[in-house]
Amino acid sequence: MSSFSKKIISWQKINGRNNLPWQTKSPYHVWISEIMLQQTQVKTVIPYFHKFINSFPSVRFLAKSNLDDVLAHWSGLGYYNRAKNIYLSSKIILEKHNGSIPDNYHELLDLPGIGESTAGAIMSLAFDKSGVILDGNVKRVLLRNSGNKSPVNLSKTQKDLKKFATELLPKENFNSYSQGIMDLGSLICTPTNPECGKCPVKRKCVSFDLGLQNVIPFKKSKNQIKEKSIKWILISSKDKVLLKRNDTKGIWQNLWLFPNENNFNQKKLSFLEKKETLPSMTHNLSHRKLSISIEKYFLKDKDKLSIDRRGYIWVNKTESVKMGVPKPVKTILENHL
Ligand code: ADE
Repeated sequence: MSSFSKKIISWQKINGRNNLPWQTKSPYHVWISEIMLQQTQVKTVIPYFHKFINSFPSVRFLAKSNLDDVLAHWSGLGYYNRAKNIYLSSKIILEKHNGSIPDNYHELLDLPGIGESTAGAIMSLAFDKSGVILDGNVKRVLLRNSGNKSPVNLSKTQKDLKKFATELLPKENFNSYSQGIMDLGSLICTPTNPECGKCPVKRKCVSFDLGLQNVIPFKKSKNQIKEKSIKWILISSKDKVLLKRNDTKGIWQNLWLFPNENNFNQKKLSFLEKKETLPSMTHNLSHRKLSISIEKYFLKDKDKLSIDRRGYIWVNKTESVKMGVPKPVKTILENHL
């Protein structure tokens, strides 16, 4: 066993994170948490995880629920395909694996939403079997340790990292090792101001030796983030507002949004009493900067507006929290209901 993995394992047991809510030995908890953690930080995930497990305590519960309900639990967490994949996977796990998360790397990879790193995470964290995790924290630890200055987003770098990570794997204690290398990246080998003095593997760390911590991971300048503007129409009637299910492909598919000009032309809007233009807001996605403007309209009798019942819904404050909505809609609803 490499001295690297031995040191990480001993360090994790004393200094690592050992009371995260998904560290329960339940493969179901590990699976759900790993999907949530794919693009989201631990502190954001924790309350979502608790609520999710509370509502869907098992694979069977999840598989027998409906996608809208699952999306509602994902509201505000972003990357909503993850929720859809969890829902689809739960049905496969129930039918094909009798409700148990498979403890086999290739069977895990076959499930929607599970890539190599997540499969490695589930193998090691849920089943204490060999598995390579390569999330952002782990990549930084490995690149710094080996003094690898290649841009992290190149596929050649990813391949090298996978090979290096596989060579370093221990022969046992896979759970503590995987958790440990992630904890090291998150707690010590941080993106800025890493606390190298406290690092258990600093003795063989090329970056520590040569003072390259601020250079590695080397970043190639990102592609320009595109800007997109969105105009929403907020129609309120007494204590309710109107939401529309987004059936267009792309971001926020299947979530509930406010209607826009394509759904309500000027003729239809002339019915309504315009109240105000709300302050515009911006919302950043990984690949887009959204600039959102909102026109608020008021309607005395909501039944006067003809809408297609299947795609629209009037909600009040209590009902709105049960809907699957993206973060900016959630914020607007909180301020206007
Ligand atoms: N990031 C991805 N998986 C994680 C885990 N199990 N604990 C902490 N951070 C993570």
